[in-house]
Amino acid sequence: MAIIASNFKTNHTRKSTASFIKEVDEFIVSNKIESEVIVFPTATSFDFIKTQSNLKIGAQNAYPIENGSFTGEIGTQQLDEFNIRTILIGHSERRHILNESQATIAKKYEFYKALGYKIIYCVGEPLEVKQSGLEKTLEYVYSQFDGIDINYENLILAYEPVWAIGTGVTATNDDIEAVHGAIKKRINKPLLYGGSVKVDNVREICSIESVDGALIGTASWVADDFKQILENTK
Ligand code: G3H
Repeated sequence: MAIIASNFKTNHTRKSTASFIKEVDEFIVSNKIESEVIVFPTATSFDFIKTQSNLKIGAQNAYPIENGSFTGEIGTQQLDEFNIRTILIGHSERRHILNESQATIAKKYEFYKALGYKIIYCVGEPLEVKQSGLEKTLEYVYSQFDGIDINYENLILAYEPVWAIGTGVTATNDDIEAVHGAIKKRINKPLLYGGSVKVDNVREICSIESVDGALIGTASWVADDFKQILENTK
């Protein structure tokens, strides 16, 4: 059974999120989709979608705190209102655009782990590292596990090479196999691939033995495309 996740990033309004979720939720039932489906909308839409039943809603980000003075952040007090128990941690955009350090990421991870949240934990190398070869790539990726308890029972991993995210350049099957195979040898957890997954390549990517599903941005933002992705991986 595949795990298929959609990350809205900073896209969609409350209204468009609500209709997306309703449509996908109904599609999962009518098309007997057996994959585990997780959607990460923006936090502003959480109250529009709390009645969903056939898919999980996750938070793209949250601060490692219940509540307090952390301007611009949300904590578990806010997530609890919507029964959100799934969180994305270590995403490339948080690491490279929002400058989250490995120490900050590890702190967030520990906090949400202690509360039993399902964590989708992302790793992946930038282009210059990829260009220096597989050994350097693995070294870089492994360093992104510093401070992370890889034995946590509610952990799902996502390998997302930075150079493939939102670029339209998907990693080749060989690239995916090489990195996934190596990670899998060290860490026995579900491992998703992310980075320019599309309607027409998702089936092939998900059929690679070391791939347990996909974490999808761009190609998942239109409900019809996401439904096709679910159909192609069911
Ligand atoms: O979280 C999703 C990933 O960043 C992949 O994004 O499918 O637009 O390349 P993408």
